[in-house]
Amino acid sequence: MLETINLCKTFKGQPAVQEVNMYLNSGESVGLLGPNGAGKSTTISMISTLIKPTSGEIKLNGINIISHPGDIRKILGVVPQELALYQELSAYENLKFFGSTYKMKGKHLENRIQHALEIVGLKDRQKDLVKTFSGGMKRRINIAAALLHEPKILILDKPTVGIDPQSRNHILETVRTLNENEGTTVLYTSHYDGGSRTAL
Ligand SMILES: Nc1ncnc2c1ncn2[C@@H]1O[C@H](COP(=O)(O)OP(=O)(O)OP(=O)(O)O)[C@@H](O)[C@H]1O
Ligand SMILES: [Mg+2]
Repeated sequence: MLETINLCKTFKGQPAVQEVNMYLNSGESVGLLGPNGAGKSTTISMISTLIKPTSGEIKLNGINIISHPGDIRKILGVVPQELALYQELSAYENLKFFGSTYKMKGKHLENRIQHALEIVGLKDRQKDLVKTFSGGMKRRINIAAALLHEPKILILDKPTVGIDPQSRNHILETVRTLNENEGTTVLYTSHYDGGSRTAL
């Protein structure tokens, strides 16, 4: 479904991503593992068409995404490493805003907002301002935002770093359910957490 071929990115002569070859089958759940600075977020930015590769290719169902960025944008949901939410707006208002960026509106948007809130378990807190949320709850709203347009591919950049075990389990369970029940293809990043352990 999604393929990178010899993908490279250089910033001012400094290599950030070098020769990444990756193949994601539809319905798979795959982890991108590497230490800080390995180039995980840069790879995701290239797949999201936010930045252009220095060389190499990214293909969605065999079609180059650089010449057809609209194809991947339509079916991709990205949960960025850094939280991207408006603190002074409620959870609901944030989701309404993100939905409008996908040109969603009316009853359809309303239904999708309620469904996404249900998935992340925050339906009862939707009227509260995001600034009153814990870190884990903010993460979950960011995940809900990425789910609004029913993406076929969901990319999560370190979705549970700095999050308590209960919220972490909830997030992992949410992603597992989407993968197993809805067939969403999942790509997530993680770094080494000392020793041989990995942290999502
Ligand atoms: N916009 C940028 N300009 C210059 N250098 C950048 C830019 N973005 C990333 N880099 C560099 O590219 C390299 C890879 O960074 P990236 O953020 O992709 O790593 P990462 O694997 O996501 O790390 P982390 O685990 O810390 O999130 C780093 O050396 C970083 O300094
Ligand atoms: Mg990163």
